[in-house]
Amino acid sequence: MSPEPAPVQRPPLDATRVREAMKSRGMGELWVSRATGSTNDDLVERAKAGRLAHLSVETTEHQEAGHGRLGRGWETPDRSALAVSIYFRPDAGFDPAGLPWLSMLCATAMVRTLSERAGLAAGLKWPNDVVAGGHKLCGVLAQLVLTADGPAVVVGAGLNVSQDRAELPVPTAGSVALLGGRTTDRTELMAGYLDRVAELYAGFAAVHGHADEPGPGDRVSLRQAIARHMVSIGHEVDAHLPDGTVLRGTAEDLGAEGALVLRDAAGKLHHVLAADVFHLRRSDGSYV
Ligand code: BTN
Repeated sequence: MSPEPAPVQRPPLDATRVREAMKSRGMGELWVSRATGSTNDDLVERAKAGRLAHLSVETTEHQEAGHGRLGRGWETPDRSALAVSIYFRPDAGFDPAGLPWLSMLCATAMVRTLSERAGLAAGLKWPNDVVAGGHKLCGVLAQLVLTADGPAVVVGAGLNVSQDRAELPVPTAGSVALLGGRTTDRTELMAGYLDRVAELYAGFAAVHGHADEPGPGDRVSLRQAIARHMVSIGHEVDAHLPDGTVLRGTAEDLGAEGALVLRDAAGKLHHVLAADVFHLRRSDGSYV
């Protein structure tokens, strides 16, 4: 008889280590709950209840009723995943047109974290899924919050870390463990992610939320930095629109307002916005 597989180790998050990482980047407060419905909902509530420091973070060991895009749910087994929400409260000089870029900024920070900390060749499936080895590892969901001090955004990321195949909702989903990542330490992954978010945001805020201007010391703009990680570029894709029609074209670039630039068979360019696309799929049927 083959030996029983070793039980999956799912230690608790080390809040002290996460706070140290946040402090080194001048971030706000951190809340870690034992279990909750949705970290996005919790942070939105805190923002509405009173002044919340910019770059404050809400996380939980067990998210039981999280939200995904398109009204889907996002629940994960206890201590198997990261559910982390960040509060962005840009200062008065930040162009509100920069706010919709924050979800792709966070997805890009996650791509970099997975590469740097877990050694995974991750990429971005437009608009803001993080994928590796043909599977989705992480999804990102942004919510606008209107505060007394102006518009703010809560961006939540859900990263599958140690789930096994049976614990994932669909065959196209993956986890860091299943993809052979070199660490499943959620504290390390969270600290790395927050560090990368704070770094990308600092450059973006320094150019007042203008996605086409490189930040000081950056060689490329945020738009170009994101586009470099996009796995769809150069491939033929089908954009499924809410009215049931499908727009087929070759993904050429990331355009203004975060639109995906598609060239159809007749050579015509289309700029499709995330809000107008139901799904994006490769035309050859593969997920990524
Ligand atoms: C998607 O559908 O791909 C987006 C999933 C976003 C899930 C994260 S987990 C942390 C945060 N809290 C939520 O309720 N949702 C987001």
